[in-house]
Amino acid sequence: MHPLLQAIREPNEAGSSPIQAGEASATVPDVQANVKRRIRCVIADDEPRLRQVLCRLMTADGFDCVEASTGVEALAALREEPTQLLLSDIRMPQMDGFQLLCQVREHHRDTAVVMITAVADVDMAVKALANGATDYLTKPFNLDEVSARVAQALETQRLRMENREHQERLEERVQQQASRIEEIFLAAVQSLVQALELKDPYTRGHSDRVSHNAGIIARALGLDEPTIGQVVLGGHMHDIGKIGVREAILNKPGPLTEDEYRHIMTHPVVGWRILAPLMADAPLALGIVRSHHERYDGRGIPDGLAGDEIPVVARVVAVADAFDAMTSSRAYRPGSRLSVDAAVAELERNRGKQFDPVVLDAALALIADGSIALMPTDT
Ligand SMILES: [Fe+2]
Repeated sequence: MHPLLQAIREPNEAGSSPIQAGEASATVPDVQANVKRRIRCVIADDEPRLRQVLCRLMTADGFDCVEASTGVEALAALREEPTQLLLSDIRMPQMDGFQLLCQVREHHRDTAVVMITAVADVDMAVKALANGATDYLTKPFNLDEVSARVAQALETQRLRMENREHQERLEERVQQQASRIEEIFLAAVQSLVQALELKDPYTRGHSDRVSHNAGIIARALGLDEPTIGQVVLGGHMHDIGKIGVREAILNKPGPLTEDEYRHIMTHPVVGWRILAPLMADAPLALGIVRSHHERYDGRGIPDGLAGDEIPVVARVVAVADAFDAMTSSRAYRPGSRLSVDAAVAELERNRGKQFDPVVLDAALALIADGSIALMPTDT
């Protein structure tokens, strides 16, 4: 038996002895255990004599051979059952060796392909290798060479498969690690949001609602999915900086003094500072944290950006934030949430001043058709 076949067969099969006549009384499972799984080889060549020579040689080497006189027949044989090796002539009618090779590489990538060429066709052989053939043989055959090249081709294919499996496992592992990192990051952000909500009960649920509604507005504006993802994330954490605001001011009943208001409005920059080291991979979401209190007319904070200078994601969150702030209770106006109609009127009053008109129109349409509605609040 060819040494390669010995190596490729399962270890417990390689040393098993053939069934002897005296073993006829063995049970069915015993007999099956002794049947060797042979390596299947499809031989495609339109010249019957050459095909038969190869077939005899390969069978003597322990292969299970299937003959095909055309590329189409070879493909049908490959589809029938898993095949480890294809020997294929290049020049064949109907489907030549290159077309066959192309199909095999696409649909039977675990099959080693050895192309057969005339000696004069070395250029063809090189082209075949460039197109994914594992090796090539030249006619007329030198039988020892056929055995050696086939063994080498099977070994090459085995290594390629091993490599690919390793690569796939590696990619899967990297993917798992990336998901885990993202989970940890989101859990950390959630903890910060919860810490803020404990300190400022009036914002409880606010982040969730702003995130949800901002995502809907972003989608209606036709922003792409990764950007919508960052809007949702940024909406969730936009007020994180309030962790740095004194509790007495956050929870002060009644109107704020000018100094107190200025102190509260440090929260976009405070939040941006807290999150910047964590959010290098989410610059749009980080931009929302910093810029959600910018105004379209340039009179906002912290950078006084105007119009398109304000990231569109921040313009989206600004509208969702204002709508929720007006329709839920706040410490400085306890129990006095606005109706949807009153909130809409207030949003309209600020068209082009506080809010981007295009974003505002999208939000108002969503409010009008009920896509954005009042959600239950805890306060
Ligand atoms: Fe805010």
